[in-house]
Amino acid sequence: MPCECKETGRLMHLILCLAHPRSLKMVRAKRWIMKKQFHGFPKNSDFELKTVDLPPLKNGEVLLEALFLSVDPYMRFSSNKLKDGDIMMGEQVARVVESKNPTFPVGTVVLVHAGWTTHSISDGQDLEKVLAEWPDSLPLSLALGTVGMPGITAYFGLFDICDLKGGETVLVSAAAGAVGIIVGQIAKLKGCRVVGSAGSDEKVEYLKKIGYDFAFNYKTVKSLEETLKKAAPDGYEIYFDNVGGEFKNTAIKQLKKFGRVAMCGAISVYNLTGQLPPGPSPEHVIYGEIRMEGFTFKRWQGEVKQKALKELLKWVLEGKIQYREYVIEGFDNMPAAFMGMLKGDNVGKAIVKM
Ligand SMILES: NC(=O)c1ccc[n+]([C@@H]2O[C@H](COP(=O)([O-])OP(=O)(O)OC[C@H]3O[C@@H](n4cnc5c(N)ncnc54)[C@H](OP(=O)(O)O)[C@@H]3O)[C@@H](O)[C@H]2O)c1
Repeated sequence: MPCECKETGRLMHLILCLAHPRSLKMVRAKRWIMKKQFHGFPKNSDFELKTVDLPPLKNGEVLLEALFLSVDPYMRFSSNKLKDGDIMMGEQVARVVESKNPTFPVGTVVLVHAGWTTHSISDGQDLEKVLAEWPDSLPLSLALGTVGMPGITAYFGLFDICDLKGGETVLVSAAAGAVGIIVGQIAKLKGCRVVGSAGSDEKVEYLKKIGYDFAFNYKTVKSLEETLKKAAPDGYEIYFDNVGGEFKNTAIKQLKKFGRVAMCGAISVYNLTGQLPPGPSPEHVIYGEIRMEGFTFKRWQGEVKQKALKELLKWVLEGKIQYREYVIEGFDNMPAAFMGMLKGDNVGKAIVKM
């Protein structure tokens, strides 16, 4: 149990703790806070590691210990909703280590948006159990990746936003990342031709290995436009946009009539401080009758989400979808993992392991 006494003087602290022996066993949480609003690319000095003593559990509450924490691009652009000194936001896979809530007994593994913290207390309202059918053979970290938020994003982005049909040509940017590798593999499963871009030759090789028909390093090609044309001379039905910016502007011009764009993310502009690249030409969008739709994974909840998670899990277990993770060990490395992911160190889902 955490220490209940708020006394900071050593002697008084000891007296109070002896009067309440349960409070002697203190639970200390380590937390990463955003010390200062990011300006441009985040820096080490923007983060600070803090230690907090957690209060004792009230009835209905559980104490959670993080097992895996996610670092995601949205943390960069959503950080402007944080105040200096707030805990960094984020989802984690955690285990219940103490419980006063019968729905979540000790040992239950849950997903929780507790932020960058080693321990947290929840009243259960914000907890989501991992799928009951999760096999021991599968890393629980996948609940933050292929069978979690990025998986859901890829799944609904393709099926609901892009109305994916077999035989179509699909272009995916940041294709070797958490969302991108799933997008490409689902599109292949459905009989599409898939073209992907990534920021290193190693990533390009990986994309080819998992079935991408054409993959290229966007950092080294002479002309993005020419490369996209070469990859699909007749154009694309779908562009799954993970990067936004100039790449998106160029990609949109290569869409066929009734082309669809899933505007999933715009990582190429998240760290820009000056003027943003201009948007797509309205003329092209209007006359091309292109549907561009912003969306977030949160739209799909309840049964429809559970059905998708089960399908993703099934595909993984059947070997139809390969997963890949980029695992960084140690909670103290959260900022390094986050900044590394923003720079592109990761192939697959970036994960921090406790
Ligand atoms: N709408 C939603 O609900 C939703 C949900 C999840 C993610 N997203 C968005 O989807 C995108 C991908 O997210 P993710 O979780 O799968 O991340 P991720 O792809 O695993 O990691 C980010 C990747 O972005 C690439 N990148 C970094 N700077 C870039 C730049 N200037 N230009 C092009 N690529 C750059 C890097 O790969 P390279 O080496 O290839 O450059 C890096 O590995 C992000 O934009 C994210 O915000 C949206």
